[in-house]
Amino acid sequence: MKPSDKPVVLITGASSGIGDTTARTFAAGGYNIVAVARRQQRLEQLASELGDIARVEILAADVADPATPGRAIAVALEKFGRLDCLVNNAGAGTWAPVGETTDEMMDTVIDVSLKGPFRFCREALPHMKPGSSVINVGSVFGAIGGLDGGIYCAVKAGLVGLTQTMAAQYGARGIRTNLVAPGVIRTDMTDAAWEAPPFQRLNHEMTPFDREGTTQDVANAIFFLASEKGSYINGQSIALDGGWSTTKYLCTEALLSDRVTG
Ligand SMILES: NC(=O)c1ccc[n+]([C@@H]2O[C@H](COP(=O)([O-])OP(=O)(O)OC[C@H]3O[C@@H](n4cnc5c(N)ncnc54)[C@H](OP(=O)(O)O)[C@@H]3O)[C@@H](O)[C@H]2O)c1
Repeated sequence: MKPSDKPVVLITGASSGIGDTTARTFAAGGYNIVAVARRQQRLEQLASELGDIARVEILAADVADPATPGRAIAVALEKFGRLDCLVNNAGAGTWAPVGETTDEMMDTVIDVSLKGPFRFCREALPHMKPGSSVINVGSVFGAIGGLDGGIYCAVKAGLVGLTQTMAAQYGARGIRTNLVAPGVIRTDMTDAAWEAPPFQRLNHEMTPFDREGTTQDVANAIFFLASEKGSYINGQSIALDGGWSTTKYLCTEALLSDRVTG
């Protein structure tokens, strides 16, 4: 089989939010796509909407299933004959303090968001040529922690370790690995909490920027990291949070208001 003329990206969690926007961004940027997630109908819709500009092969599967990564890589190789970029984006969160986190909650997050990406990397690496790259989707909560979701923070921090290790192990083969760490972005994952005062404070009072972050902000960074323009970036974690995690910013109103204790 003649390999695809276009580069090929495999994106997990492409059925909504950051993964969906990332698929559209890579399609517009000249890639063919393997899109993986559980909701087949959403993936079919994505494929049909992108049909004029990209070939999109879909795999409706659970990334926590140990067989899924091998099946997904096989789709890339059988349909396109190459794999140039892997975006480990599918993720699950459970929001509970450490003391209230059950083993079942731990297992779900670890299986989807750490073992899944690890297996995808393991299966993809033998087929990636120099110039290829892996981008893991972490979270700023994996860098600075948070009040809720200890297992989510632990797993996202684990992805940083995986990213740095792969950068060291495979950089010499010309395969780069990086991580993007979004702040709070409005997607299905965060929609229910969006109007809650802590989210509002985080996005407005504590972020030195006059707008909310978008899925497109994250997709742009992923695309840049995969591109030739990002070709000397390896082993990095790039926060996409308008400066929230590094500046300890508070807007004037919040800075001067009485401390709220509760
Ligand atoms: N939104 C934020 O504020 C934010 C901040 C930091 C990091 N992130 C990270 O960004 C990534 C994308 O999240 P999002 O915000 O775009 O949320 P989202 O819209 O809910 O998307 C999550 C995606 O992951 C897929 N997914 C979840 N569990 C899966 C499983 N077991 N098997 C296969 N696919 C699975 C979902 O597809 P199906 O349901 O169809 O399977 C969906 O496509 C996640 O890793 C998340 O942790 C998000």
